[in-house]
Amino acid sequence: MTANNHQNNGASSNPSSEPVEAPFRVEYADRVQRLPPYLFGRINNTLYQKRRAGHDVIDLGMGNPSDPPEKMIIEKLCEAADDVRNHGYSKSNGLLNLRRELAHKYFRKYGVRIDPESQAIVCLGSKEGFSHMCLALMGPGDTAMIPAPFFPVHMYGVVLAAGNVVALEVADSEKFLSNIAYTCQHFYPRPKLLIINYPHNPSTITVEPDFFPEVVKLAKRYGFMVISDFAYSDVAFDGYQPPSFLAAEGAMDVGVEFTTMSKGYNMAGWRIGFCAGNADMIRGLATIKGYYDYGMFQAIQIAAIVALRDTEAAVERQSMIYQGRRDVLVEGLHRIGWEATPPRAGMFVWGRVPEKWRQRMSTLDFAMMLLEEGDVAVSPGSGFGPAGEGYLRMALVENENRLRQAVRQIAKCLERMESKYSPKAPSVV
Ligand SMILES: Cc1ncc(COP(=O)(O)O)c(C=O)c1O
Repeated sequence: MTANNHQNNGASSNPSSEPVEAPFRVEYADRVQRLPPYLFGRINNTLYQKRRAGHDVIDLGMGNPSDPPEKMIIEKLCEAADDVRNHGYSKSNGLLNLRRELAHKYFRKYGVRIDPESQAIVCLGSKEGFSHMCLALMGPGDTAMIPAPFFPVHMYGVVLAAGNVVALEVADSEKFLSNIAYTCQHFYPRPKLLIINYPHNPSTITVEPDFFPEVVKLAKRYGFMVISDFAYSDVAFDGYQPPSFLAAEGAMDVGVEFTTMSKGYNMAGWRIGFCAGNADMIRGLATIKGYYDYGMFQAIQIAAIVALRDTEAAVERQSMIYQGRRDVLVEGLHRIGWEATPPRAGMFVWGRVPEKWRQRMSTLDFAMMLLEEGDVAVSPGSGFGPAGEGYLRMALVENENRLRQAVRQIAKCLERMESKYSPKAPSVV
């Protein structure tokens, strides 16, 4: 209750002399008040309004797959949903057969051996697992090192767990490693956790397998745990295979890795993620989840087993679709004079806002202008923290024709707006 609620401001004006109660107010906990205003809120509201008004907005804002999962996965879901045995509460750490299938995939793809009993857990999407892992590991006075720019839950999962965050530039991997060492040497108490995310969202930075042994070395030297967010493990181009952190020697001693079926399998709405690795960390997450949830609908887990076991070829085809879209979007942006490095993996293009526009307005205002005047929605880089200022993230979730159209609309919009910002000098009569 706030000070206002205590004031009896009705004493002289209320003839019944009953105290007039101030309007009831809900006061949020400190953890909610520590969260900044949601930066994507303005974009999302405008996008919603425009669509309601009948505009055909090309939406490259969110990494929300628009292609369907394989038919056999949906069929298995229907079949399993028709089985009355699948409708009760499930185990909060997931069906053992699903964890086994995850272990098979890790062995097949990365040569990593995982004990499905103790080193793997099923999550309601990797974001749920990640945020509850933060709750299991972090508390007041604990510090986590995260990449900058950052995927919002990497920052706010720690903040909601009452921890502190140091964000380290991710663009140069060598520098990222030396900044980790520097931070550990100069912070007291030392950071407790490192969050890594390769292929990185939003910057699309990738690493080679020789990067992770260096991370393990640092973790052992300075005594921090590691969470690898490997959400884009299944979406890679031109023959590149994103390496798993768990394949590094000693990785299981210091950390865990999150993977998801949201991206490569087009199952984002199903909410299926996994955490694998260090058994003590997994146990910590299982403890929190045991209190918070009753597990995932069993029919979904059964369909996920089929997906992991039998649809690898479809996952590869989906990567090829993203690769084609990447080429169309990057070529289009280059044609209109933008800087954008073609990503080797992930679902995004990370483009630089042209210099003259960077000088005129913030990245958020620029993204708003593209939406309001050009009917193209993108994510302003500043939504991923100050290191993202000057960049836009564009998701490859529209087809190639729509991406070409998006580039044309952006170009036209900027041409139109140019006259507003640098009107021709009045001719001398
Ligand atoms: C880096 C990263 N991690 C985690 C997630 C969340 O994935 P999930 O759908 O498994 O919760 C996303 C989704 O966009 C992501 O980009």
